[in-house]
Amino acid sequence: MNIILFGPPGAGKGTQAKKLVDFYGIPQISTGDILRANVREGTELGLAAKAYMDKGELVPDDVLIGIIKNRLTEQDCIKGFILDGYPRTVPQADALAVILDEIEKPIDVVLNLEVPDEELIRRISGRLICSKCGASYNRTFNPPKKEGICDICEGEVFQRADDKEDAVQNRLSVYKKQTQPLIAYYAKQGILVTLDGTKDMEKVFKDIKAVLVKFA
Ligand code: AP5
Ligand code: MG
Repeated sequence: MNIILFGPPGAGKGTQAKKLVDFYGIPQISTGDILRANVREGTELGLAAKAYMDKGELVPDDVLIGIIKNRLTEQDCIKGFILDGYPRTVPQADALAVILDEIEKPIDVVLNLEVPDEELIRRISGRLICSKCGASYNRTFNPPKKEGICDICEGEVFQRADDKEDAVQNRLSVYKKQTQPLIAYYAKQGILVTLDGTKDMEKVFKDIKAVLVKFA
Protein backbone atom coordinates (compact mmCIF):
# COMPACT_ATOMS: atom_id res chain seq x y z
CA MET A 1 0.00 0.00 0.00
CA ASN A 2 1.58 3.26 -1.14
CA ILE A 3 0.10 6.31 0.54
CA ILE A 4 0.65 10.06 0.65
CA LEU A 5 -0.58 11.74 3.85
CA PHE A 6 -1.28 15.29 2.81
CA GLY A 7 -2.38 18.41 4.65
CA PRO A 8 -1.24 21.70 6.17
CA PRO A 9 1.17 21.94 9.13
CA GLY A 10 -0.60 20.60 12.20
CA ALA A 11 -3.25 18.64 10.26
CA GLY A 12 -2.23 15.41 12.01
CA LYS A 13 -0.07 13.77 9.32
CA GLY A 14 2.59 12.60 11.79
CA THR A 15 0.01 11.47 14.35
CA GLN A 16 -1.91 9.36 11.83
CA ALA A 17 1.25 8.07 10.13
CA LYS A 18 2.43 6.55 13.44
CA LYS A 19 -0.92 4.76 13.84
CA LEU A 20 -0.72 3.45 10.26
CA VAL A 21 2.82 2.13 10.84
CA ASP A 22 1.56 0.11 13.83
CA PHE A 23 -1.54 -1.11 12.00
CA TYR A 24 -0.17 -1.98 8.55
CA GLY A 25 3.53 -2.53 9.28
CA ILE A 26 4.75 -0.26 6.49
CA PRO A 27 7.24 2.57 7.14
CA GLN A 28 6.48 6.26 7.67
CA ILE A 29 8.69 8.47 5.54
CA SER A 30 8.57 11.90 7.15
CA THR A 31 10.82 14.37 5.37
CA GLY A 32 10.47 16.72 8.36
CA ASP A 33 11.75 13.99 10.72
CA ILE A 34 14.61 13.12 8.35
CA LEU A 35 15.64 16.78 8.13
CA ARG A 36 15.37 17.28 11.93
CA ALA A 37 17.52 14.17 12.52
CA ASN A 38 20.17 15.68 10.22
CA VAL A 39 20.00 18.99 12.10
CA ARG A 40 20.45 17.15 15.43
CA GLU A 41 23.41 15.18 14.10
CA GLY A 42 24.98 18.32 12.59
CA THR A 43 25.37 16.79 9.10
CA GLU A 44 26.10 19.00 6.08
CA LEU A 45 22.49 18.50 4.97
CA GLY A 46 21.21 19.46 8.41
CA LEU A 47 23.32 22.61 8.52
CA ALA A 48 22.02 23.67 5.11
CA ALA A 49 18.37 22.89 5.98
CA LYS A 50 18.20 24.47 9.46
CA ALA A 51 17.94 28.10 8.38
CA TYR A 52 15.00 27.35 6.08
CA MET A 53 13.23 25.20 8.66
CA ASP A 54 13.54 27.63 11.57
CA LYS A 55 11.88 30.34 9.45
CA GLY A 56 9.15 28.00 8.24
CA GLU A 57 10.38 28.10 4.62
CA LEU A 58 10.64 25.04 2.40
CA VAL A 59 14.05 23.44 1.96
CA PRO A 60 15.04 23.52 -1.78
CA ASP A 61 13.44 20.88 -4.01
CA ASP A 62 16.69 19.26 -5.23
CA VAL A 63 17.66 18.44 -1.61
CA LEU A 64 14.28 16.84 -0.90
CA ILE A 65 14.14 14.91 -4.15
CA GLY A 66 17.57 13.38 -3.36
CA ILE A 67 16.42 12.38 0.14
CA ILE A 68 13.21 10.78 -1.06
CA LYS A 69 14.84 8.88 -3.92
CA ASN A 70 17.31 7.25 -1.52
CA ARG A 71 14.67 6.47 1.07
CA LEU A 72 12.11 4.91 -1.29
CA THR A 73 14.64 2.46 -2.66
CA GLU A 74 15.43 1.04 0.80
CA GLN A 75 14.40 -2.55 1.49
CA ASP A 76 11.65 -1.78 4.01
CA CYS A 77 9.58 0.02 1.34
CA ILE A 78 8.99 -3.18 -0.62
CA LYS A 79 5.52 -3.76 0.85
CA GLY A 80 4.57 -0.10 0.77
CA PHE A 81 5.17 3.25 2.46
CA ILE A 82 3.48 6.27 4.00
CA LEU A 83 4.80 9.59 2.72
CA ASP A 84 4.35 12.29 5.39
CA GLY A 85 5.29 15.83 4.38
CA TYR A 86 6.39 14.99 0.83
CA PRO A 87 5.63 16.15 -1.85
CA ARG A 88 5.15 19.83 -1.01
CA THR A 89 5.63 21.43 -4.43
CA VAL A 90 4.68 20.54 -8.00
CA PRO A 91 8.34 19.83 -8.98
CA GLN A 92 8.57 17.45 -5.97
CA ALA A 93 5.40 15.67 -7.10
CA ASP A 94 6.67 15.40 -10.68
CA ALA A 95 9.99 13.98 -9.45
CA LEU A 96 8.12 11.50 -7.24
CA ALA A 97 6.11 10.25 -10.22
CA VAL A 98 9.34 9.54 -12.12
CA ILE A 99 10.94 7.73 -9.15
CA LEU A 100 7.82 5.61 -8.50
CA ASP A 101 7.51 4.78 -12.18
CA GLU A 102 11.09 3.48 -12.16
CA ILE A 103 10.53 1.27 -9.12
CA GLU A 104 6.99 0.33 -10.25
CA LYS A 105 5.23 1.44 -7.08
CA PRO A 106 2.44 3.84 -8.03
CA ILE A 107 0.64 5.87 -5.34
CA ASP A 108 -2.67 4.20 -4.39
CA VAL A 109 -4.21 7.14 -2.60
CA VAL A 110 -3.52 10.68 -1.38
CA LEU A 111 -5.26 11.28 1.97
CA ASN A 112 -5.88 14.99 2.38
CA LEU A 113 -6.55 15.97 6.01
CA GLU A 114 -8.61 19.16 6.08
CA VAL A 115 -8.37 21.40 9.18
CA PRO A 116 -9.12 25.16 9.41
CA ASP A 117 -6.32 27.63 10.21
CA GLU A 118 -7.48 28.56 13.76
CA GLU A 119 -7.40 24.90 14.79
CA LEU A 120 -3.98 24.37 13.14
CA ILE A 121 -2.52 27.28 15.10
CA ARG A 122 -4.07 26.00 18.33
CA ARG A 123 -2.59 22.53 17.78
CA ILE A 124 0.88 23.60 16.68
CA SER A 125 1.45 26.23 19.34
CA GLY A 126 0.79 23.59 22.04
CA ARG A 127 2.78 20.79 20.44
CA LEU A 128 5.68 19.17 22.30
CA ILE A 129 8.02 16.61 20.74
CA CYS A 130 10.22 13.98 22.37
CA SER A 131 13.88 14.66 21.60
CA LYS A 132 14.65 10.93 21.63
CA CYS A 133 11.80 9.03 19.93
CA GLY A 134 9.89 11.84 18.20
CA ALA A 135 6.55 11.11 19.93
CA SER A 136 4.18 14.07 19.70
CA TYR A 137 2.24 15.59 22.64
CA ASN A 138 0.14 18.66 23.16
CA ARG A 139 0.46 20.93 26.19
CA THR A 140 -3.32 21.37 26.47
CA PHE A 141 -5.08 18.28 25.18
CA ASN A 142 -2.48 15.50 25.18
CA PRO A 143 0.24 16.32 27.76
CA PRO A 144 2.90 13.78 28.81
CA LYS A 145 2.07 12.15 32.15
CA LYS A 146 5.22 13.59 33.79
CA GLU A 147 5.88 17.21 32.79
CA GLY A 148 8.73 17.50 30.27
CA ILE A 149 9.29 13.71 30.08
CA CYS A 150 8.19 11.36 27.29
CA ASP A 151 5.71 8.64 28.38
CA ILE A 152 7.24 6.14 25.95
CA CYS A 153 11.02 6.48 26.30
CA GLU A 154 11.54 9.03 29.12
CA GLY A 155 13.32 11.37 26.68
CA GLU A 156 13.06 15.12 27.14
CA VAL A 157 10.11 16.81 25.39
CA PHE A 158 10.55 20.24 23.80
CA GLN A 159 8.89 22.76 21.46
CA ARG A 160 10.11 22.72 17.82
CA ALA A 161 11.82 26.01 16.81
CA ASP A 162 9.39 26.31 13.88
CA ASP A 163 6.37 25.92 16.20
CA LYS A 164 6.84 29.45 17.54
CA GLU A 165 4.19 32.02 16.49
CA ASP A 166 6.05 33.80 13.60
CA ALA A 167 7.29 30.64 11.94
CA VAL A 168 3.84 29.01 12.23
CA GLN A 169 2.19 31.91 10.36
CA ASN A 170 4.85 31.66 7.68
CA ARG A 171 4.44 27.87 7.36
CA LEU A 172 0.71 28.34 6.78
CA SER A 173 1.24 30.91 4.04
CA VAL A 174 4.00 28.81 2.44
CA TYR A 175 1.57 25.86 2.50
CA LYS A 176 -1.13 27.88 0.74
CA LYS A 177 1.19 29.22 -1.94
CA GLN A 178 3.44 26.26 -2.69
CA THR A 179 1.76 23.07 -1.42
CA GLN A 180 -2.01 23.51 -1.69
CA PRO A 181 -1.91 23.41 -5.55
CA LEU A 182 -1.12 19.70 -5.20
CA ILE A 183 -4.74 19.10 -4.14
CA ALA A 184 -5.90 19.88 -7.69
CA TYR A 185 -2.85 18.00 -9.08
CA TYR A 186 -3.86 14.73 -7.38
CA ALA A 187 -7.61 15.28 -7.77
CA LYS A 188 -7.02 15.40 -11.52
CA GLN A 189 -5.34 11.99 -11.30
CA GLY A 190 -8.41 10.64 -9.44
CA ILE A 191 -6.44 9.49 -6.37
CA LEU A 192 -7.28 12.26 -3.87
CA VAL A 193 -9.54 11.55 -0.88
CA THR A 194 -10.31 14.47 1.43
CA LEU A 195 -11.09 13.71 5.08
CA ASP A 196 -12.27 15.83 8.00
CA GLY A 197 -9.13 16.23 10.12
CA THR A 198 -10.92 18.11 12.90
CA LYS A 199 -12.42 14.96 14.42
CA ASP A 200 -10.60 13.38 17.35
CA MET A 201 -7.50 11.34 16.50
CA GLU A 202 -9.17 7.93 16.79
CA LYS A 203 -12.12 8.97 14.60
CA VAL A 204 -9.77 10.33 11.93
CA PHE A 205 -7.86 7.03 12.06
CA LYS A 206 -11.10 5.08 11.64
CA ASP A 207 -12.03 7.17 8.57
CA ILE A 208 -8.57 6.57 7.11
CA LYS A 209 -8.82 2.81 7.62
CA ALA A 210 -12.22 2.81 5.91
CA VAL A 211 -10.60 4.37 2.82
CA LEU A 212 -7.57 2.05 2.90
CA VAL A 213 -9.54 -1.16 3.21
CA LYS A 214 -9.65 -1.56 -0.55
CA PHE A 215 -5.86 -1.25 -0.91
CA ALA A 216 -4.77 -3.58 1.93
P1 AP5 B 1 7.20 18.87 8.85
O1 AP5 B 1 7.88 18.25 9.98
O2 AP5 B 1 6.64 18.02 7.77
O3 AP5 B 1 6.09 19.85 9.43
P2 AP5 B 1 4.65 20.31 8.92
O4 AP5 B 1 4.16 19.92 7.57
O5 AP5 B 1 4.69 21.75 9.17
O6 AP5 B 1 3.68 19.49 9.71
P3 AP5 B 1 3.65 19.23 11.21
O7 AP5 B 1 4.63 18.17 11.57
O8 AP5 B 1 3.70 20.54 11.94
O9 AP5 B 1 2.13 18.71 11.36
P4 AP5 B 1 1.51 17.28 11.24
O10 AP5 B 1 0.47 17.33 10.16
O11 AP5 B 1 2.51 16.18 11.19
O12 AP5 B 1 0.72 17.25 12.64
P5 AP5 B 1 0.97 16.39 13.98
O13 AP5 B 1 0.49 14.99 13.77
O14 AP5 B 1 2.34 16.58 14.51
O15 AP5 B 1 8.17 19.92 8.16
C1 AP5 B 1 8.95 20.83 8.92
C2 AP5 B 1 9.84 21.66 8.00
O16 AP5 B 1 10.77 20.80 7.29
C3 AP5 B 1 9.11 22.43 6.87
O17 AP5 B 1 8.61 23.66 7.33
C4 AP5 B 1 10.24 22.58 5.86
O18 AP5 B 1 11.14 23.59 6.24
C5 AP5 B 1 10.96 21.25 5.97
N1 AP5 B 1 10.41 20.25 5.04
C6 AP5 B 1 9.84 19.05 5.36
N2 AP5 B 1 9.43 18.40 4.26
C7 AP5 B 1 9.75 19.19 3.21
C8 AP5 B 1 9.57 19.07 1.81
N3 AP5 B 1 8.96 18.01 1.27
N4 AP5 B 1 10.02 20.09 1.03
C9 AP5 B 1 10.63 21.16 1.55
N5 AP5 B 1 10.83 21.34 2.86
C10 AP5 B 1 10.40 20.36 3.68
O19 AP5 B 1 -0.09 17.12 14.94
C11 AP5 B 1 0.10 18.46 15.36
C12 AP5 B 1 -0.43 18.65 16.80
O20 AP5 B 1 -1.83 18.44 16.80
C13 AP5 B 1 0.15 17.68 17.83
O21 AP5 B 1 0.26 18.35 19.05
C14 AP5 B 1 -0.91 16.55 17.91
O22 AP5 B 1 -0.90 15.93 19.18
C15 AP5 B 1 -2.19 17.35 17.64
N6 AP5 B 1 -3.22 16.59 16.89
C16 AP5 B 1 -3.04 15.75 15.82
N7 AP5 B 1 -4.21 15.25 15.39
C17 AP5 B 1 -5.18 15.79 16.21
C18 AP5 B 1 -6.61 15.66 16.26
N8 AP5 B 1 -7.31 14.90 15.41
N9 AP5 B 1 -7.26 16.37 17.23
C19 AP5 B 1 -6.57 17.17 18.11
N10 AP5 B 1 -5.24 17.31 18.09
C20 AP5 B 1 -4.53 16.63 17.15
MG1 MG C 1 4.64 16.14 11.12
